[in-house]
Amino acid sequence: MPVNIVVGSQWGDEGKGRITDLLAAQADIVARYSGGDNAGHTVTIGAEVFKLHLTPSGIVHEDVVCLIGNGVVVNPAVLLREIDGLAARGVNVTPQRLKICRKAHLITPAHIALDKGYEAARGQEAIGTTQRGIGPAYTDKAQRSGLRAGLLADVEGLADAVAAHVESKNRILTDVLGQPPLPVKETALAYAQYASRLAPYLTDGSLYLSEALAAGKNILAEGAQGTLLDLDHGTYPFVTSSSSTASGALIGLGVGPRCVSEIVGVAKAFTSRVGSGPFPAEISGEAALRLRGTGANPWDEYGTTTGRPRRVGWLDLVILRYAARINSLTQLALTKLDILSGLSQIPVCVAYDLAGQRTTHFPTDLAELAHCQPVYEMLPGWDEDISGARVWADLPRNARQYVKFVAEQVGVPVSLVSVGPAREQVVVC
Ligand code: IMP
Repeated sequence: MPVNIVVGSQWGDEGKGRITDLLAAQADIVARYSGGDNAGHTVTIGAEVFKLHLTPSGIVHEDVVCLIGNGVVVNPAVLLREIDGLAARGVNVTPQRLKICRKAHLITPAHIALDKGYEAARGQEAIGTTQRGIGPAYTDKAQRSGLRAGLLADVEGLADAVAAHVESKNRILTDVLGQPPLPVKETALAYAQYASRLAPYLTDGSLYLSEALAAGKNILAEGAQGTLLDLDHGTYPFVTSSSSTASGALIGLGVGPRCVSEIVGVAKAFTSRVGSGPFPAEISGEAALRLRGTGANPWDEYGTTTGRPRRVGWLDLVILRYAARINSLTQLALTKLDILSGLSQIPVCVAYDLAGQRTTHFPTDLAELAHCQPVYEMLPGWDEDISGARVWADLPRNARQYVKFVAEQVGVPVSLVSVGPAREQVVVC
């Protein structure tokens, strides 16, 4: 039985949370495979808006079990706050419904201090990280000095490991970055307290999933960030520190490639980016304000985790073709189509001009990307409010043309189009 993957096709913030929520209705298990609380997945059900950072978006479906996979880096303080917040809103977040793989890695205050310290030291070259300690936690994992979630089962062992970890990071903080040291004992004590609450949630994620697959269960793998933020395939160094592409689901959950069935690439009907780095189809001024929104609504283009205004631009099909290739996408879910209503013409970037040469391939070199100029094709817009559309025929002709154009150009069918933040505001194509 299948593992279906939901993956971001752009620079994150594509609306993976709402698409995961939708697809979770057919899943038994929703499993997060990468990233940490740098992510912010929004699920809107009626008047209720859930902003989830670590808990998989399936948690709002009461029959779904959620797993935080081995590929995730977990800040236990944030996770406990999220669990308590969900429980206060009546969501069942017991260890029967939420599981944490023992092989996931823990984020500590030392990772967060290092993230902030390194960003400050980079000055003008700053990556624009979310300052959640993500990079330093994955660095420790790769350096084989990380703290795995399994330690939460051993309160004393964890306290000792955290104390040694903070002592060693304090040397970097003070001697290299000129930052104040962190308290060793208090941090160790705090982690011992987190352990007493989180230990019951621990599991062997890969074993849990393989038994579920053998029992015929459906698994939805929920990605975080997006293809262009992937450590290998993104716009390095302006990327996150994990494998956010579809292949990351295999490593980040401990399942093999033969289990995978559908790979749904989520793409916004325009493009956005948070943080630094080149963005060929970026726009500014009035048009940008129109795409971004004022921030008055939870779905406006402001970071769910950091509140930063997102950079915005027109839809870039060079990026989507690249995402289709890197992730072997079988479907596209196009979000926020309603935001484009009211434009007389809609520019869509179909290729780049690089030093007078037209290219339809996303460059591997960041300096080249920085010199790429967007080549736009103008598509006719529509005036109708499409937020009430529920079936394909409800969409105005030009909106349907826009969706068809994307599918043809990318070579991947569009299976879902979202026309508003609410769960039901979706057109199944
Ligand atoms: P980090 O993941 O906090 O290390 O940040 C690295 C880069 O990824 C920065 O440009 C962030 O803005 C970006 N980033 C990380 N998580 C997200 C996300 O969930 N959405 C959009 N951008 C993100």
